[in-house]
Amino acid sequence: MVARTTAPFIYLAPLKSITDSLFRRVFGAHFGGVDAAVAPFINPQRASSYPDKLVRDLLPERNREITVIPQILNNEPQGFSALARRLHELGYQEINWNLGCPARQVVKKQRGAGLLPHPDTVCRLLDTVLPELPGRLSIKMRVGLHDEAEAAALLPRLNDYPLSEIIIHPRLGDEFYRALADPDRFERCMTLTGHRLCYNGDIRTMADYLRLAHRFTGINRWMIGRGLLANPFLGEEIKGRSPAKQDRRWRLISFHDELFGALQEHVSGPGHLLGRLKQVWIYFIGAFPDNQSQLKKITRAGSLDSYRRVVDTLFLKPPL
Ligand SMILES: Cc1cc2nc3c(=O)[nH]c(=O)nc-3n(C[C@H](O)[C@H](O)[C@H](O)COP(=O)(O)O)c2cc1C
Repeated sequence: MVARTTAPFIYLAPLKSITDSLFRRVFGAHFGGVDAAVAPFINPQRASSYPDKLVRDLLPERNREITVIPQILNNEPQGFSALARRLHELGYQEINWNLGCPARQVVKKQRGAGLLPHPDTVCRLLDTVLPELPGRLSIKMRVGLHDEAEAAALLPRLNDYPLSEIIIHPRLGDEFYRALADPDRFERCMTLTGHRLCYNGDIRTMADYLRLAHRFTGINRWMIGRGLLANPFLGEEIKGRSPAKQDRRWRLISFHDELFGALQEHVSGPGHLLGRLKQVWIYFIGAFPDNQSQLKKITRAGSLDSYRRVVDTLFLKPPL
Protein backbone atom coordinates (compact mmCIF):
# COMPACT_ATOMS: atom_id res chain seq x y z
CA MET A 1 0.00 0.00 0.00
CA VAL A 2 1.33 3.48 -0.81
CA ALA A 3 1.07 5.53 2.39
CA ARG A 4 0.28 8.89 0.81
CA THR A 5 -2.38 11.22 2.07
CA THR A 6 -2.06 13.88 -0.63
CA ALA A 7 -2.21 13.53 -4.41
CA PRO A 8 1.17 13.14 -6.11
CA PHE A 9 2.65 16.34 -7.52
CA ILE A 10 3.63 15.98 -11.17
CA TYR A 11 6.07 18.23 -13.02
CA LEU A 12 6.44 18.38 -16.77
CA ALA A 13 10.23 18.14 -17.20
CA PRO A 14 12.14 20.76 -19.17
CA LEU A 15 13.01 19.55 -22.67
CA LYS A 16 15.00 22.24 -24.45
CA SER A 17 13.61 23.15 -27.89
CA ILE A 18 10.42 21.17 -27.19
CA THR A 19 8.59 22.21 -23.99
CA ASP A 20 8.68 25.96 -24.61
CA SER A 21 5.78 28.21 -23.63
CA LEU A 22 3.85 27.44 -26.81
CA PHE A 23 4.11 23.68 -26.25
CA ARG A 24 3.23 24.03 -22.56
CA ARG A 25 0.17 26.14 -23.38
CA VAL A 26 -1.20 23.65 -25.91
CA PHE A 27 -0.28 20.63 -23.79
CA GLY A 28 -1.92 22.16 -20.71
CA ALA A 29 -5.08 22.97 -22.66
CA HIS A 30 -5.48 19.34 -23.79
CA PHE A 31 -4.15 17.16 -20.98
CA GLY A 32 -4.51 17.23 -17.22
CA GLY A 33 -2.62 15.82 -14.29
CA VAL A 34 0.41 18.11 -14.54
CA ASP A 35 0.80 20.47 -11.58
CA ALA A 36 3.73 22.56 -12.82
CA ALA A 37 6.47 22.67 -15.43
CA VAL A 38 10.13 23.52 -15.09
CA ALA A 39 10.98 25.55 -18.19
CA PRO A 40 13.99 24.63 -20.35
CA PHE A 41 17.14 26.37 -19.18
CA ILE A 42 18.15 29.89 -19.95
CA ASN A 43 21.80 30.70 -19.83
CA PRO A 44 22.71 34.16 -18.58
CA GLN A 45 25.76 35.87 -19.99
CA ARG A 46 27.95 38.19 -17.98
CA ALA A 47 25.79 41.28 -17.59
CA SER A 48 23.89 42.97 -14.84
CA SER A 49 20.73 43.48 -16.84
CA TYR A 50 19.17 41.18 -19.39
CA PRO A 51 17.87 41.75 -22.85
CA ASP A 52 14.23 40.78 -22.94
CA LYS A 53 15.02 38.18 -25.61
CA LEU A 54 16.40 35.84 -22.96
CA VAL A 55 13.22 35.93 -20.89
CA ARG A 56 10.74 36.34 -23.75
CA ASP A 57 9.47 32.79 -23.48
CA LEU A 58 8.86 33.33 -19.76
CA LEU A 59 6.70 36.44 -20.06
CA PRO A 60 3.61 35.91 -17.87
CA GLU A 61 1.16 36.38 -20.76
CA ARG A 62 2.69 33.35 -22.49
CA ASN A 63 2.56 31.19 -19.39
CA ARG A 64 -0.98 31.19 -18.11
CA GLU A 65 -1.88 27.54 -18.71
CA ILE A 66 0.60 25.70 -16.46
CA THR A 67 2.48 27.04 -13.42
CA VAL A 68 6.07 27.52 -14.52
CA ILE A 69 9.40 27.48 -12.73
CA PRO A 70 12.14 29.06 -14.84
CA GLN A 71 15.49 27.31 -14.93
CA ILE A 72 18.97 28.86 -14.97
CA LEU A 73 22.08 27.15 -16.34
CA ASN A 74 25.05 29.05 -14.99
CA ASN A 75 27.98 29.04 -12.58
CA GLU A 76 28.62 32.73 -12.24
CA PRO A 77 26.95 34.50 -9.28
CA GLN A 78 26.61 37.98 -10.77
CA GLY A 79 24.83 36.84 -13.92
CA PHE A 80 22.76 34.35 -11.94
CA SER A 81 21.57 37.01 -9.48
CA ALA A 82 20.74 39.54 -12.17
CA LEU A 83 18.66 37.03 -14.09
CA ALA A 84 16.98 35.78 -10.90
CA ARG A 85 15.98 39.38 -10.07
CA ARG A 86 14.58 39.89 -13.57
CA LEU A 87 12.56 36.68 -13.28
CA HIS A 88 11.25 37.77 -9.89
CA GLU A 89 10.15 41.09 -11.40
CA LEU A 90 8.17 39.06 -13.93
CA GLY A 91 6.35 37.42 -11.03
CA TYR A 92 8.28 34.17 -10.53
CA GLN A 93 8.53 33.18 -6.86
CA GLU A 94 10.77 30.19 -7.53
CA ILE A 95 13.60 29.38 -9.90
CA ASN A 96 15.50 26.19 -10.55
CA TRP A 97 19.24 25.73 -10.99
CA ASN A 98 20.35 23.18 -13.58
CA LEU A 99 23.11 20.87 -12.27
CA GLY A 100 22.30 18.10 -14.70
CA CYS A 101 22.85 19.12 -18.31
CA PRO A 102 25.37 16.61 -19.73
CA ALA A 103 26.08 18.34 -23.09
CA ARG A 104 29.83 18.45 -23.68
CA GLN A 105 30.03 22.17 -24.44
CA VAL A 106 28.09 22.90 -21.21
CA VAL A 107 30.15 20.51 -19.05
CA LYS A 108 33.39 21.94 -20.48
CA LYS A 109 32.42 25.36 -19.12
CA GLN A 110 31.72 23.83 -15.70
CA ARG A 111 27.99 24.34 -15.99
CA GLY A 112 25.11 21.88 -15.62
CA ALA A 113 26.44 18.41 -14.71
CA GLY A 114 29.93 19.91 -15.14
CA LEU A 115 29.50 21.50 -11.69
CA LEU A 116 28.85 18.22 -9.89
CA PRO A 117 32.54 17.35 -9.32
CA HIS A 118 33.05 20.86 -7.86
CA PRO A 119 31.02 21.21 -4.66
CA ASP A 120 33.09 24.23 -3.54
CA THR A 121 32.03 26.14 -6.66
CA VAL A 122 28.39 25.14 -6.12
CA CYS A 123 28.51 26.30 -2.50
CA ARG A 124 30.30 29.53 -3.42
CA LEU A 125 27.51 30.41 -5.82
CA LEU A 126 24.86 29.58 -3.23
CA ASP A 127 26.70 31.61 -0.56
CA THR A 128 26.72 34.63 -2.84
CA VAL A 129 23.34 34.31 -4.50
CA LEU A 130 20.99 33.00 -1.82
CA PRO A 131 21.17 35.88 0.70
CA GLU A 132 19.97 38.31 -1.98
CA LEU A 133 17.63 36.00 -3.85
CA PRO A 134 14.13 37.48 -3.84
CA GLY A 135 12.35 34.09 -4.14
CA ARG A 136 12.90 30.37 -3.62
CA LEU A 137 15.56 28.20 -5.28
CA SER A 138 15.41 24.52 -6.18
CA ILE A 139 18.07 22.36 -7.84
CA LYS A 140 17.73 19.75 -10.58
CA MET A 141 20.71 17.41 -10.68
CA ARG A 142 22.11 14.14 -11.88
CA VAL A 143 23.92 11.90 -9.37
CA GLY A 144 27.34 12.86 -10.68
CA LEU A 145 29.22 13.74 -13.83
CA HIS A 146 31.64 10.77 -13.75
CA ASP A 147 30.85 9.08 -10.45
CA GLU A 148 28.09 8.78 -7.90
CA ALA A 149 30.60 9.82 -5.23
CA GLU A 150 30.08 13.38 -6.49
CA ALA A 151 26.45 13.47 -5.33
CA ALA A 152 27.54 11.80 -2.09
CA ALA A 153 29.95 14.70 -1.50
CA LEU A 154 27.61 17.46 -2.62
CA LEU A 155 24.25 16.50 -1.09
CA PRO A 156 25.29 16.76 2.59
CA ARG A 157 26.72 20.23 1.91
CA LEU A 158 23.46 21.35 0.31
CA ASN A 159 21.76 20.69 3.67
CA ASP A 160 23.26 24.02 4.83
CA TYR A 161 21.15 25.99 2.35
CA PRO A 162 17.44 26.84 2.30
CA LEU A 163 16.54 25.11 -0.97
CA SER A 164 12.89 24.49 -1.73
CA GLU A 165 13.59 21.07 -3.25
CA ILE A 166 16.11 18.90 -5.09
CA ILE A 167 14.99 17.09 -8.23
CA ILE A 168 17.21 14.07 -8.76
CA HIS A 169 17.65 12.34 -12.10
CA PRO A 170 19.59 9.23 -11.08
CA ARG A 171 21.96 8.97 -14.03
CA LEU A 172 25.54 10.19 -14.40
CA GLY A 173 26.28 13.01 -16.82
CA ASP A 174 28.71 10.70 -18.66
CA GLU A 175 25.84 8.30 -19.31
CA PHE A 176 23.76 10.90 -21.18
CA TYR A 177 20.62 8.79 -21.74
CA ARG A 178 22.28 5.35 -21.85
CA ALA A 179 21.01 2.71 -19.42
CA LEU A 180 17.99 3.47 -17.29
CA ALA A 181 17.63 5.99 -14.49
CA ASP A 182 18.59 3.92 -11.42
CA PRO A 183 16.24 3.97 -8.40
CA ASP A 184 18.99 2.43 -6.21
CA ARG A 185 21.05 5.54 -6.76
CA PHE A 186 18.07 7.71 -5.88
CA GLU A 187 17.63 5.72 -2.67
CA ARG A 188 21.26 6.31 -1.71
CA CYS A 189 20.77 10.06 -2.29
CA MET A 190 17.73 10.02 0.02
CA THR A 191 19.93 9.11 2.96
CA LEU A 192 22.21 12.11 2.33
CA THR A 193 19.75 14.97 2.24
CA GLY A 194 17.23 16.66 4.47
CA HIS A 195 15.70 18.50 1.51
CA ARG A 196 12.42 17.65 -0.11
CA LEU A 197 13.14 15.39 -3.09
CA CYS A 198 11.51 14.86 -6.45
CA TYR A 199 12.20 11.76 -8.58
CA ASN A 200 12.94 12.20 -12.28
CA GLY A 201 13.80 9.72 -14.99
CA ASP A 202 12.18 7.06 -17.17
CA ILE A 203 8.67 7.21 -15.77
CA ARG A 204 6.95 6.10 -18.97
CA THR A 205 3.99 4.06 -17.84
CA MET A 206 1.59 3.76 -14.94
CA ALA A 207 3.47 0.58 -13.97
CA ASP A 208 6.76 2.55 -13.78
CA TYR A 209 5.09 5.13 -11.57
CA LEU A 210 3.49 2.55 -9.29
CA ARG A 211 6.76 0.64 -8.88
CA LEU A 212 8.54 3.81 -7.77
CA ALA A 213 5.65 5.08 -5.66
CA HIS A 214 5.49 1.78 -3.77
CA ARG A 215 9.21 1.74 -3.25
CA PHE A 216 9.59 5.40 -2.20
CA THR A 217 6.58 5.95 0.01
CA GLY A 218 8.09 9.18 1.38
CA ILE A 219 8.32 10.74 -2.09
CA ASN A 220 5.30 12.52 -3.47
CA ARG A 221 6.84 14.60 -6.26
CA TRP A 222 7.64 13.25 -9.69
CA MET A 223 9.04 14.88 -12.78
CA ILE A 224 8.20 13.36 -16.15
CA GLY A 225 9.52 14.45 -19.53
CA ARG A 226 9.65 12.00 -22.40
CA GLY A 227 7.01 9.78 -20.76
CA LEU A 228 4.43 12.56 -20.89
CA LEU A 229 5.12 13.22 -24.55
CA ALA A 230 4.84 9.52 -25.39
CA ASN A 231 1.71 9.15 -23.28
CA PRO A 232 0.18 12.57 -22.66
CA PHE A 233 -2.53 10.91 -20.52
CA LEU A 234 0.02 9.67 -17.98
CA GLY A 235 -0.52 12.60 -15.61
CA GLU A 236 -4.28 11.98 -15.63
CA GLU A 237 -3.72 8.25 -15.08
CA ILE A 238 -1.44 8.89 -12.11
CA LYS A 239 -4.07 11.21 -10.64
CA GLY A 240 -6.67 8.43 -11.00
CA ARG A 241 -8.49 10.09 -13.90
CA SER A 242 -7.67 7.61 -16.64
CA PRO A 243 -9.38 8.78 -19.84
CA ALA A 244 -11.80 6.48 -21.68
CA LYS A 245 -10.12 4.47 -24.44
CA GLN A 246 -12.51 5.81 -27.11
CA ASP A 247 -11.55 9.42 -26.22
CA ARG A 248 -7.83 8.98 -26.57
CA ARG A 249 -7.61 9.09 -30.35
CA TRP A 250 -9.51 12.34 -30.88
CA ARG A 251 -7.77 13.98 -27.94
CA LEU A 252 -4.35 13.17 -29.36
CA ILE A 253 -5.40 14.43 -32.78
CA SER A 254 -6.83 17.69 -31.49
CA PHE A 255 -3.67 18.28 -29.41
CA HIS A 256 -1.52 17.70 -32.48
CA ASP A 257 -3.65 19.90 -34.71
CA GLU A 258 -3.64 22.78 -32.26
CA LEU A 259 0.11 22.46 -31.78
CA PHE A 260 0.56 22.41 -35.57
CA GLY A 261 -1.54 25.57 -35.95
CA ALA A 262 0.14 27.41 -33.08
CA LEU A 263 3.62 26.54 -34.36
CA GLN A 264 2.65 27.55 -37.89
CA GLU A 265 1.75 31.03 -36.62
CA HIS A 266 4.85 31.26 -34.50
CA VAL A 267 7.79 29.94 -36.55
CA SER A 268 9.04 31.31 -39.85
CA GLY A 269 8.54 29.03 -42.82
CA PRO A 270 7.61 25.39 -43.46
CA GLY A 271 11.16 24.13 -42.87
CA HIS A 272 11.21 25.40 -39.30
CA LEU A 273 7.66 24.18 -38.71
CA LEU A 274 8.57 20.68 -39.88
CA GLY A 275 11.71 20.73 -37.77
CA ARG A 276 9.80 21.63 -34.61
CA LEU A 277 7.09 19.04 -35.24
CA LYS A 278 9.62 16.30 -35.91
CA GLN A 279 11.29 17.00 -32.56
CA VAL A 280 7.97 16.48 -30.80
CA TRP A 281 7.29 13.31 -32.79
CA ILE A 282 10.53 11.67 -31.61
CA TYR A 283 8.66 11.16 -28.31
CA PHE A 284 4.98 11.63 -29.25
CA ILE A 285 5.20 8.65 -31.61
CA GLY A 286 5.21 6.47 -28.47
CA ALA A 287 1.44 7.04 -28.26
CA PHE A 288 0.89 5.12 -31.52
CA PRO A 289 1.34 1.51 -32.64
CA ASP A 290 4.14 0.37 -34.92
CA ASN A 291 5.91 3.49 -33.84
CA GLN A 292 9.50 3.18 -35.07
CA SER A 293 8.56 2.59 -38.71
CA GLN A 294 5.97 5.38 -38.52
CA LEU A 295 8.55 7.74 -37.01
CA LYS A 296 10.87 7.05 -39.95
CA LYS A 297 8.13 8.12 -42.35
CA ILE A 298 7.51 11.31 -40.39
CA THR A 299 11.17 12.25 -40.14
CA ARG A 300 11.60 11.61 -43.89
CA ALA A 301 8.74 13.96 -44.81
CA GLY A 302 10.29 16.78 -46.82
CA SER A 303 7.21 18.97 -47.19
CA LEU A 304 4.17 19.88 -45.15
CA ASP A 305 1.97 18.00 -47.64
CA SER A 306 3.85 14.74 -47.24
CA TYR A 307 3.98 15.29 -43.47
CA ARG A 308 0.19 15.71 -43.34
CA ARG A 309 -0.34 12.58 -45.43
CA VAL A 310 1.80 10.42 -43.13
CA VAL A 311 0.30 11.84 -39.96
CA ASP A 312 -3.29 11.63 -41.18
CA THR A 313 -2.77 7.95 -42.04
CA LEU A 314 -1.27 7.35 -38.61
CA PHE A 315 -4.27 9.03 -36.97
CA LEU A 316 -6.63 6.53 -38.61
CA LYS A 317 -5.27 3.81 -36.31
CA PRO A 318 -6.33 3.59 -32.68
CA PRO A 319 -3.52 4.82 -30.40
CA LEU A 320 -1.85 2.47 -27.91
C1 LIG B 1 15.63 16.89 -25.74
C2 LIG B 1 15.89 17.07 -24.27
C3 LIG B 1 16.08 18.35 -23.76
C4 LIG B 1 16.30 18.54 -22.39
N1 LIG B 1 16.44 19.83 -21.88
C5 LIG B 1 16.61 20.01 -20.54
C6 LIG B 1 16.68 21.32 -19.96
O1 LIG B 1 16.59 22.36 -20.63
N2 LIG B 1 16.87 21.40 -18.62
C7 LIG B 1 16.97 20.28 -17.81
O2 LIG B 1 17.11 20.40 -16.60
N3 LIG B 1 16.87 19.05 -18.33
C8 LIG B 1 16.69 18.89 -19.66
N4 LIG B 1 16.54 17.62 -20.15
C9 LIG B 1 16.48 16.47 -19.20
C10 LIG B 1 15.01 16.19 -18.80
O3 LIG B 1 14.44 17.30 -18.15
C11 LIG B 1 14.90 14.98 -17.88
O4 LIG B 1 15.72 15.18 -16.76
C12 LIG B 1 15.33 13.68 -18.57
O5 LIG B 1 14.78 13.59 -19.87
C13 LIG B 1 14.91 12.46 -17.76
O6 LIG B 1 13.49 12.48 -17.55
P1 LIG B 1 12.46 11.66 -18.48
O7 LIG B 1 12.99 10.24 -18.56
O8 LIG B 1 11.15 11.75 -17.74
O9 LIG B 1 12.44 12.32 -19.82
C14 LIG B 1 16.36 17.42 -21.51
C15 LIG B 1 16.18 16.13 -22.04
C16 LIG B 1 15.94 15.95 -23.39
C17 LIG B 1 15.73 14.55 -23.91
